[in-house]
Amino acid sequence: PTVAVLFGGRSSEHGVSCVTAGGVLGAIDRDRYDVLAIGITREGRWTLASTDPSDWGIADGSMPAVADEGPTVLPPRQRGDSEWRLEADGTVSSLGTVDAVFPLLHGPYGEDGTIQGALELVDVRYVGSGVLASAVGMDKQFMKAAFVDAGLPVAPGIVLRPGEPVAARMPELEPLGLPVFVKPARAGSSMGISKVSSWDQLEAAVADAVKHDPKVLVEAGIVGREIETAVLATADGVRTSPQGEIVTGGDHAFYDFEAKYLDEAHVQLLCPTALDEEVAARVADYARRAFAAVGAEGLARVDCFVGEDGTVIVNEINTMPGFTPTSMYPRMWAAAGVAYPELVEALIREALT
Ligand code: DAL
Ligand code: MG
Repeated sequence: PTVAVLFGGRSSEHGVSCVTAGGVLGAIDRDRYDVLAIGITREGRWTLASTDPSDWGIADGSMPAVADEGPTVLPPRQRGDSEWRLEADGTVSSLGTVDAVFPLLHGPYGEDGTIQGALELVDVRYVGSGVLASAVGMDKQFMKAAFVDAGLPVAPGIVLRPGEPVAARMPELEPLGLPVFVKPARAGSSMGISKVSSWDQLEAAVADAVKHDPKVLVEAGIVGREIETAVLATADGVRTSPQGEIVTGGDHAFYDFEAKYLDEAHVQLLCPTALDEEVAARVADYARRAFAAVGAEGLARVDCFVGEDGTVIVNEINTMPGFTPTSMYPRMWAAAGVAYPELVEALIREALT
């Protein structure tokens, strides 16, 4: 079978997606699958890339990007036609049939249902969640609503509509207490998120978030350990991994973008981590329920906060979690005895069946 790996894309998590794709391309069993690597530039152009990430010319210490060179690959456009066409030197030749797509895209235009919708239209199978689950998982307002509907505990939050003056909402915002976290409703990797410890910082934090999404969520700050769970759903059922924990130190006020990808010295990813048995069971239960609440498929990472008294708050679900060999999602499965290539294989097999 032929598997197309899609990566890069128009979101601010472009670089993270490239790193993820580099890991997955290195792990796909080439004896079993023909692989196509299709990069999407920041402008949205689809281009055929080398399936060997060492050809990408990634410089140390910076996030990679899809180069705007090489032949253009048109997104599939005809209903029922899974032939992908390659345009090179003015000639159009066929890439052949694609049996499954691994949409390794994070953030808007990839993790949000848009690519999933395009693939549904042309009847191509793909790894992971469908249109609705992807869209709900991307939008922190609707994600929260789905969690609340499923009886899951979440942090209180207020949504600021595009263009809404912050001052007008202060009577509702103040009862959240300080600190609050200001988040773009639809973004990832902590892009545009600020911790606000005094109300006079709020306006600037909202302005920062608006660069990523005109809709902004202001959430009560939760004190607790950051505990993550990997969920894998295949024909064998829905499984949860041993929990992992993020311990952020150094100058980071929280697990921000720098801490996530650029400052390995001050962040520890612990897996497995020590949790009271009853608390661990509750976290696993919430992870399953969060997965079901948005209607996720295939894979997701569910992030929780665990307070000292054992209270668990569900922070979010990521329907296409960071997937480099050192990312938390594969590490949690490694702790359960599922190695990275096995995980990649399980997801592709699930997409193909
Ligand atoms: N949004 C990033 C990739 C994550 O959830 O891991
Ligand atoms: Mg997220």
